[in-house]
Amino acid sequence: MIHATLVASHDRQLEDALRALGLHLERGTIESVTLKPTDVVIVDVREKGLFPAVAALKRHHPHIGIVIVASVLDPTLLLEAMRAGVSEVLPEPIVADDVRKAIERVTDKRMPTEVGRVFGFVGAKGGVGTTTVAVNVATALGSASKPARVLLMDLHQTGGDAAVFMGVEPRFSVMDVLNNMHRLDETFFRTLVVQTASHTDLLSSPERPLPGVFERERLQRLISFASGIYKETVIDLPQSDGAVLDVLDELSAIYVVANQELATVKSASRLTTMLRERYGRDKVTLILSRSDRHAEIGHEDVEKAVGAQLSHIFPSDYRVALQALNKGRPIALDNHNELSASFKRFAHRLSGKRAESTSARSGGLFGRLTHRS
Ligand SMILES: Nc1ncnc2c1ncn2[C@@H]1O[C@H](COP(=O)(O)OP(=O)(O)OP(=O)(O)O)[C@@H](O)[C@H]1O
Ligand SMILES: [Mg+2]
Repeated sequence: MIHATLVASHDRQLEDALRALGLHLERGTIESVTLKPTDVVIVDVREKGLFPAVAALKRHHPHIGIVIVASVLDPTLLLEAMRAGVSEVLPEPIVADDVRKAIERVTDKRMPTEVGRVFGFVGAKGGVGTTTVAVNVATALGSASKPARVLLMDLHQTGGDAAVFMGVEPRFSVMDVLNNMHRLDETFFRTLVVQTASHTDLLSSPERPLPGVFERERLQRLISFASGIYKETVIDLPQSDGAVLDVLDELSAIYVVANQELATVKSASRLTTMLRERYGRDKVTLILSRSDRHAEIGHEDVEKAVGAQLSHIFPSDYRVALQALNKGRPIALDNHNELSASFKRFAHRLSGKRAESTSARSGGLFGRLTHRS
């Protein structure tokens, strides 16, 4: 564990970003640094500038690494920093990964890179509302995870419409990543995603796929790469693509999206059984989209037919869903509707420390309560 001290900073976001890196972090002054074991001192010079005590600290304790956080890379500051023996100056915007790399350089220690969690959503049939769920869960996770960003990947070989739901027109797609696996690194990856509202990056589905690119090994590497750089990744999964459904070993959870139509329930049963045989019972969970309390097939009927409990139930709201789609603005950005609240609640559960197992009762009960007139 790296012991770090943050000096002269009132920036909560910086503090959160440092804590998110898994450092043992304390706030302190330059003078207090040597009283405790310290590997690195992060000095925020944005308010008061670089003070002489930094040079003195470096002179007397050369083994302590120092990273300076500044507004801009100003030549005078750089010269001052150099004279003080400080080699790492980070300008705004403060990116968590740059901070991590700077700390690794000055301490000569690798930080354990936490493996992010990946949530996949697959529809029992086309049109059940899978993309709506994936987009809104990613949006809600993104809004809640600031300053870290969340990734949404649309793994449809073509015609995936997550970008439309997000209101963006991506220049690049999954195809560009899969086609360039040999030069894949974080900087390159971040040029291929589109930044959407609420701290969510989208890697979209291609306009035109090239044959042979969506293959097992590359898809597997893509998912594992994403989980290395994002703490949370959401995938909109195509239900009829064997290659994609075969590489979900690294997912933390796979959600089968169903509704209350007979054909969908039958497909949900087949798909859930298939995925549970392949990835284990606990990894595959059933959720219900567009819940309709007047439907002939009730929630319990769905659970019985599929042989799985419903872990979450999203209410139906045709008007809100259509308006969001037409505007290209995810429902989860709204504040005053039940559907949006339902997405946020679900995302909140996902972002808990451990993936929740199917505690269906709360979801089921919630669904019923929200539909009580
Ligand atoms: N909770 C909801 N209430 C009402 N309508 C919804 C809800 N969720 C989705 N819809 C509507 O259902 C339609 C299909 O949604 P969506 O595109 O998310 O489904 P899908 O399963 O991803 O479809 P596809 O198979 O084409 O990828 C859209 O018109 C959407 O607005
Ligand atoms: Mg879809």
